[in-house]
Amino acid sequence: MTRLPTTADTTATADNPGQAVGPGQAVDQEQAVARRYSAGAQQVEAALCCPVDYDPRFLTAILPQVLERDYGCEDPSRYLAAGETVLDLGSGTGKICFIASQVVGPAGRVIGVDVNDDMLAVARAAAPVVAERVGHGGVEFGKARIQDLALDLDALARWLAAHPVADLASLAALEAEQRRLRARAPLLADDSVDVVMSNCVLNLVATEQKTALFDEIFRVLPRGGRAVISDIVSSTEVPQQLRADPKLWSGCISGALQEEAFLAAFERAGFHGIHLVKRDAPPGRWWRASSSAP
Ligand SMILES: C[S@@+](CC[C@H](N)C(=O)[O-])C[C@H]1O[C@@H](n2cnc3c(N)ncnc32)[C@H](O)[C@@H]1O
Repeated sequence: MTRLPTTADTTATADNPGQAVGPGQAVDQEQAVARRYSAGAQQVEAALCCPVDYDPRFLTAILPQVLERDYGCEDPSRYLAAGETVLDLGSGTGKICFIASQVVGPAGRVIGVDVNDDMLAVARAAAPVVAERVGHGGVEFGKARIQDLALDLDALARWLAAHPVADLASLAALEAEQRRLRARAPLLADDSVDVVMSNCVLNLVATEQKTALFDEIFRVLPRGGRAVISDIVSSTEVPQQLRADPKLWSGCISGALQEEAFLAAFERAGFHGIHLVKRDAPPGRWWRASSSAP
């Protein structure tokens, strides 16, 4: 799908594509995801792995501890080109970033973003080794929520260590620092990457924050930029009792958007040329979907 400078830049006010949930549920979902992927970074969790046929040429340079923790559901790196600057949302241990760096080559750049320290630790430790094997660097990992890509959480953590919050005044100072970081030192600035890719992550973002997520994808892409997304989608809207199940949510099942809502969410954010490039139908009602520019 391709980003157009439409009125959606300033008038994106459509309703949330997902079913509404209360703020408490969003917190529970985020905590369930944090716990599940911290554990999944420390030890391989077979239940989170889907078999994906990555191009074997790109795997030899990647460390086993990264490859074993493959929690993706497809391979968006197939839709990249040499020289591109690529952002990977929810980069995990970095596998797709390391594949992408070999596709975009030494003239390209890859930025992986994840919110989980344990995932980031594996990815950051592997980066110099992979760079040496591949013959070039160009991969970096940042800490942010993908629905708030401007806020650099490493920078915020450094500030917080020196300015602990103890009362309402220091809480206000923290909020001011968040605004300053977003405006003056954004992790991802507007129009800053050629391609946004993601592999099995968008479904994990809390329902009430999904609109912000699609707006962020649009914001960081310039005119003509594109998004290539692999994710789980559902054939029908996921019932509320399944959404409330933390294990199903963190397992990339119950946060899935219904297929048409998934595509409509990109359109509402301002994208055009949205289409499925591949759809897999595993047993049951869950599909994997990938979208890309024509
Ligand atoms: C299913 S794994 C996919 C990892 C990687 N894309 C892969 O292909 O192996 C989901 C990843 O997204 C991260 N994640 C989940 N929600 C996130 C959010 N709101 N912001 C940033 N990262 C998030 C998790 O920490 C985890 O590393």
